[in-house]
Amino acid sequence: MPDFQKLLPPPMRRPPKPGHANGNGATAYEDGEAPDRVPASPQTDDPGRRLSTGLKDAPADLVGWVDERMGATSFLTAMLMRKVPKGTNWFYTLGSATLFAFVVQAVTGVFLAMYYTPSPVEAYASITHLTNEVFLGEFVRGMHKWGASVMVILVFVHMARTFYFGAYKYPRELNWVIGVTLLILTMVMGFTGYLLPFDQRSYWATIVGVNINGTGPIVGPYLSDFLRAGPEFGATTLSRFYAIHMLLVPGAIIALIGAHLYLVVKLGTTAPPWLRADRKPKDARRQPVDAIANGSNGSNDSLGDGSVR
Ligand code: HEM
Repeated sequence: MPDFQKLLPPPMRRPPKPGHANGNGATAYEDGEAPDRVPASPQTDDPGRRLSTGLKDAPADLVGWVDERMGATSFLTAMLMRKVPKGTNWFYTLGSATLFAFVVQAVTGVFLAMYYTPSPVEAYASITHLTNEVFLGEFVRGMHKWGASVMVILVFVHMARTFYFGAYKYPRELNWVIGVTLLILTMVMGFTGYLLPFDQRSYWATIVGVNINGTGPIVGPYLSDFLRAGPEFGATTLSRFYAIHMLLVPGAIIALIGAHLYLVVKLGTTAPPWLRADRKPKDARRQPVDAIANGSNGSNDSLGDGSVR
């Protein structure tokens, strides 16, 4: 047994292989106690071999140790081994693709934040330094910049998919509303991020954008005051945009994605419209009238719309 195993209390130690005797001559665990030593065998006699086996098993041991305390396996098994509803196709990957785009934005954004200075005097210089001098800086900045457009496109295509499949209908209206909020927040990310390089183009484009916001009814003027951090476009405007871009909106997006995915898992996905149109009359012939009236069609589609809970 490698030395680090000896440091663990018996219940946390890796049990010996079946058939191997423990130190008392009894088969492992036969005497009801976890063994202190793995018995000698030609293989385990070799300390180098024992150490390498122990090191190889260490990650699995650690995962098992954490899992025993968190019960993650049952959760992950339930999440990953769910039945895929009939008719699921590539269009159903658009939500996950959007999620991936968001994760890429978050990761690249963290690296950009390590070099960016949100001050009107230094912002442009810090971006120029990042782009021209920092190792892979231009690459990471490019990923973040193009990734923003990719995410906006994916959100729209995903929304179009859910719309055409009728996924906004009962009981998924709340998920649709959460989705609309995510769409707005994604665009707020694009708008607030655009100012951050603080060059001529981003400065003037943002003034135009803030003024357009100001023309909105009732809340418009308050909204543009909030964005400018006052009645004039000034030094604090950049800090305001930076805080919105990297704290406020990402936090809200993460919370809403959590709620969005919770509802997807709870309610299941909507079957494609062509599948539903085919199925209903056939099912109706096979089932008792009261089962149909109760919304049960004998499958795991308890919502009666082709979804699986
Ligand atoms: C950050 C943005 C978003 C992310 C990360 C996201 C993620 C997801 C994922 C992973 C799914 C399950 C798989 C799928 O059906 O594609 C899903 C489903 C859904 N999403 Fe989104 N989504 C986002 C934005 C939106 C928007 C803008 C809308 C609509 C306004 C929306 C409405 C829905 C609906 C209604 C479902 C359920 C689909 C069904 O029942 O078949 N989502 N979303």
